[in-house]
Amino acid sequence: MKKYTTAYDVPNINDFADKALELKKNPFAFDTLGKHKTLGLIFFNPSLRTRLSTQKAAMSLGMNVIVMNVDGDGWKLETEEGVIMDSDKAEHIKDAFPVIGQYCDIIGVRSFPSLKDREADYADKVINDIVKYTSVPVVSLESAIRHPLQALADLMTIKELSQKAKPKVVLTWAPHPRALPQAVSNSFAETMNLADVELVITHPKGYELNPEFVGNARVVYDQKEAFKDADFIYAKNWSSYNDYGQILSQDKSWVVDEEKMALTNNAHFMHCLPVRRNVIVTDGVIDSPQSAVIQQAGNREFAVQTVLKEMLENL
Ligand code: CP
Repeated sequence: MKKYTTAYDVPNINDFADKALELKKNPFAFDTLGKHKTLGLIFFNPSLRTRLSTQKAAMSLGMNVIVMNVDGDGWKLETEEGVIMDSDKAEHIKDAFPVIGQYCDIIGVRSFPSLKDREADYADKVINDIVKYTSVPVVSLESAIRHPLQALADLMTIKELSQKAKPKVVLTWAPHPRALPQAVSNSFAETMNLADVELVITHPKGYELNPEFVGNARVVYDQKEAFKDADFIYAKNWSSYNDYGQILSQDKSWVVDEEKMALTNNAHFMHCLPVRRNVIVTDGVIDSPQSAVIQQAGNREFAVQTVLKEMLENL
């Protein structure tokens, strides 16, 4: 595997999630596979789960890990092609990543969108350029438009918890005070379209996701209608795709609360975290026995470990 930037980078994401669940049963079974191999984790943006789960996964495979926060630790990196580099950005990714590839056998990168230029963000240029400019495998730790490791962990969690062959999974928008990327929602929808689930997406008008990611999902603008008989409720805020990067609503009636969860089939509550409590979801829901958020975060480790294992086996 040369890259893991979308669910389509593996032949079958369902089989891959099953592999990850198998690895979870015996995570140290391949603890020498990564001996004398180095993973470089490059963060343009903050992280808690992605950073720690990826470090832990690499260590379980016997790898060494180097972590760099670009904005804090290194030269500020230029990502635009052909610019006159007379600003505060001292090095181009065209130079930096081939150099990082000299020290690392696999590179992980997190780079969020600008939320200003939809065309540029949806070209997913930074991660694609890094794949282009480096000779070593690249793992997306969340790009401008996708968060594939999160979606893989989400699929694992649904497989673990589902009591039905084809559960109803509802992705619901919820309010947030800041403009957030669409990456988590895009990857979740992309992956659920490939999974054996009934996918429903609910949000206020104006928050339609890119149709490429919506795929065959049913879009319902009435949140309560969408929640009826759901087996999984996946809450996430995202900024508008059509009115790109804008906050169009802060409607508190979209907060996931106990009353709305009561409409479901005793659904599990999911969120990728970090979450703003009592903004996205009430304490009562996220602290309830049906909350799967900690299990989801735990599965991040085995999702990325499965990707790294596959990459190490093919170096
Ligand atoms: N869910 C997730 O990616 O968390 P972090 O931003 O903390 O890595």
